[in-house]
Amino acid sequence: MKNRAADPSARRVLLLGAGGQLGRALWEFRPSGVEVVRSARDDLDLTRPVDIEAALKAASPDLILNAAAYTAVDRAEREFELACAVNAEAPAALARLARAGGIRLVHVSTDFVFPGDRGRPWRPEDPPRPVNRYGESKAEGEKAIQSLGHSLALIVRTGWVYAPWGHNFFRTILRLLGEREELHVIDDQVGTPTSALSLARFLWAVALREDLSGILHWSDAGVASWYDFACAIEEEARNAGLLKRLVPIHPIPTEAYPLPARRPFQAILDKSETIARTGLEPVHWRTALSQVVRRFAEDPNRPGSRTGKS
Ligand SMILES: NC(=O)c1ccc[n+]([C@@H]2O[C@H](COP(=O)([O-])OP(=O)(O)OC[C@H]3O[C@@H](n4cnc5c(N)ncnc54)[C@H](OP(=O)(O)O)[C@@H]3O)[C@@H](O)[C@H]2O)c1
Repeated sequence: MKNRAADPSARRVLLLGAGGQLGRALWEFRPSGVEVVRSARDDLDLTRPVDIEAALKAASPDLILNAAAYTAVDRAEREFELACAVNAEAPAALARLARAGGIRLVHVSTDFVFPGDRGRPWRPEDPPRPVNRYGESKAEGEKAIQSLGHSLALIVRTGWVYAPWGHNFFRTILRLLGEREELHVIDDQVGTPTSALSLARFLWAVALREDLSGILHWSDAGVASWYDFACAIEEEARNAGLLKRLVPIHPIPTEAYPLPARRPFQAILDKSETIARTGLEPVHWRTALSQVVRRFAEDPNRPGSRTGKS
């Protein structure tokens, strides 16, 4: 067996949430020389603290990468307890066990911990003030991790994540563009669409640097409304041959599309401190979107593909 303390290439990582859209990207971009143990909900239900401890013992990781979360923003309004079990209590248990075992913990959080008033981008030190239950549960998770003062713990906040796979705005818009004559999309909420592919590369880079702790903010570069994002998806999809016709997209205000959970109007993360601390530069969201569309178009199993199943 390799001596992991003496040989960084022998690092062993427990990847939680491996079945999610970010988890899949983290698996795809795992660095060479790092052994990754994937854990999806079927392997470990994070609402069961006893199982968390047993899973850590079995995997014996040097690093826990937590991409698992309860992410159903609207459902969280009525399933707050469950959201807290996954988003607050499980990260707290992970942080406790990580501190006791000297294990690095990298936890993913969200711009939804902020209220999203229109104003300047959010800095890591701004006090969380979520406007919905999902945001509350994620803010509780952050607080629990931070309160333990584990020097090897790192929280990375991000927002508007999408991937060629999984459930996300990108895939929903692509599907609707194929089904509808026209679309109406909210244009008064702004943020930064963030490709799970670029986020996964960033996460690996910072996860393997144990000098980085505290909170980092990361997204792709630039700013867009949901309407801008939808128009860009339509344009890229037509360029990639995924759409044969032009589908008009109309901007609408938030109140025209009521949802159970309130959304922040302004979900832009200030990344300047992260860029200074890491030396890493984000790619512009339009560039990242082109890459995701290409990946989606190349997938023979994608919905609508001639060889695809659904
Ligand atoms: N999506 C976004 O726009 C966004 C924005 C900001 C931050 N984030 C954060 O980014 C991280 C990754 O999210 P994502 O976008 O990849 O979401 P996702 O696709 O919903 O993935 C989350 C994963 O967590 C798993 N999970 C849920 N409950 C669990 C439980 N009780 N035990 C074990 N696993 C459980 C889910 O399993 P199932 O597949 O079985 O449900 C899913 O695979 C999360 O921390 C999220 O809060 C996401």
